[in-house]
Amino acid sequence: MRTVVMCAVVLWGCDSPPAAPVAVKHQAACGQASDETVRIMRGLAPSCEGCHLNGARAFFASVNSFQNLIVADARMVTPGDPENSELIKLLEGRATGAFTRMPIGTKSYAELVADGSATLTVEEVKQWVRDLASQARDARPDGAAPRITRVKAEQVQRALYQQLGLGYDDFFTNAAEYGIHMAQPRTDETYPFQPVDAYLPPRTTEPRDRFHGLGGGSVVTQARGDLSPSPTFVLTLTQVSQRWCRLGFRKTGNVALFPSGTAQTTDAANVKATIARWFLHFHGTRASAAEIDAMYSTVWAPLSTTSAEAGWVGLCSAFIRHPDWIFF
Ligand code: HEC
Repeated sequence: MRTVVMCAVVLWGCDSPPAAPVAVKHQAACGQASDETVRIMRGLAPSCEGCHLNGARAFFASVNSFQNLIVADARMVTPGDPENSELIKLLEGRATGAFTRMPIGTKSYAELVADGSATLTVEEVKQWVRDLASQARDARPDGAAPRITRVKAEQVQRALYQQLGLGYDDFFTNAAEYGIHMAQPRTDETYPFQPVDAYLPPRTTEPRDRFHGLGGGSVVTQARGDLSPSPTFVLTLTQVSQRWCRLGFRKTGNVALFPSGTAQTTDAANVKATIARWFLHFHGTRASAAEIDAMYSTVWAPLSTTSAEAGWVGLCSAFIRHPDWIFF
């Protein structure tokens, strides 16, 4: 009974409310594959995934792909009616579209089963279609799905300046080269970086190399920007985040990490309260107790044995090196 109620609730979130949420068969929840669907997918995969792992027809890239691109697509599968399902027709070599059979080749899937090259029988696939509940396909974009745009080098600088309470003056003094104003690093110890095309451009090479290391491009030097999470990006961000967190932590009067009214005491309750606040500060997310505990035990606990500062800096940089910070 409980399952049915849950399913009804979940299905309600989809495009159309279900007419009768009673005969929920092979549909675990809206848009999710049932165990039997997963079994069918795994059975077909050896014959199909060679050509369907990526691109627009990446049916076999994941269970979700199979579920959304094949199972829940009425053009491919008609629940309850294998004879009129394009997928079955393809397996039997009697499809009427651009391709009469899948896999492409001299033998249909049914023939591959007959000669022992494939093990999942067409009858099993048909039975699965017969038992399949009507599928709800969620046409809306999934707001909760992770997005995969990486922060740009310029954004890394802007975000960290703001989140750590740092600024240009912490890293640079103004200098001039042949009358052109330039940003002169106070020291390279703090890992400064500066966009090459910025006003003021970096006077020395290290800040500009670091900017390129973070994937920053430049019109002036004709360097192409790179938004991949490359090893160079990760390495540079790791160094920068640790150094800059320490800088922010030590800067007198800086309230970015510890706003006035908050404590830096190292008792578990205050550390966890700080972790919860930093989830909001760095990721904009409200963390669960489990997520807070995980940060506490995996980052704070081992690092703070050295010093409290190591613990705070480690936590701070762990938030920055986190996928939720890097991708948005
Ligand atoms: C040798 C490569 C290859 C293999 C193996 C293969 N496919 Fe395909 N499949 C293709 C190509 C190519 C297309 C057409 C792509 C396009 O139109 O862009 C296609 C299209 C499809 C389509 C869409 C048909 C349509 O009318 O839109 C389905 C469904 C499909 N394949 C299922 C399968 C299944 C299931 C298997 C395994 C039993 C399989 N494919 C194995 C190459 C392959």
